[in-house]
Amino acid sequence: MNKNIVTIGGSSSKTSINKVLAEYTAGLVKGVELTKLDLNNFNLPLFSIDLENEFGINDEAKKLNEIIESADGFVISLAEHNGAYSTAFKNAFDWLSRINGKVWRDKPMLLLSTSPGERGGQSVLDIALSRFPYMGGNIIGNLSFPSFYDNFVEGEIVNSDLKLELNKLVVELEKAL
Ligand SMILES: Cc1cc2nc3c(=O)[nH]c(=O)nc-3n(C[C@H](O)[C@H](O)[C@H](O)COP(=O)(O)O)c2cc1C
Repeated sequence: MNKNIVTIGGSSSKTSINKVLAEYTAGLVKGVELTKLDLNNFNLPLFSIDLENEFGINDEAKKLNEIIESADGFVISLAEHNGAYSTAFKNAFDWLSRINGKVWRDKPMLLLSTSPGERGGQSVLDIALSRFPYMGGNIIGNLSFPSFYDNFVEGEIVNSDLKLELNKLVVELEKAL
């Protein structure tokens, strides 16, 4: 059976460029099934310890956790909001961490981020690079993809250096699966 790659765009935007980048990158991985996760499909309340104490773990968080559990690997691209995770991603991450602290199950992961800016989402990427390894994150490769709208046009990477870099990461993920 083919390995299952779960893609996550760390954003709640309907037109998320991070979702686009995660799905594009995972689409380059040979011989795998893709499960394209959209955070908008999970009706998660804002995490609160009081909610958890009163009602237990939210059912939507359990549903999300089952998809994470089914993954053989991940391609995640994080949106950067004020230098950090988007609220939607952080909320999902917090709920997931209450089910299993090893959120990412030591499964191989490509960790990306992008934004319209020249640094891409380097700040949020740095946050995740320092945190995910404590949460079962097995990060095979990472890239902050800069100036998304200049470098990704009509569904394709138009900057040859970036294309090469991303392809190298994909090969590393294929080897790790
Ligand atoms: C509240 C907010 C804060 C933002 N902060 C940053 C930032 O710190 N760095 C950055 O490069 N872009 C920032 N942006 C622009 C986002 O990178 C841009 O909206 C991008 O499309 C987000 O990714 P998404 O399309 O996957 O949601 C911010 C956008 C919003 C709405």
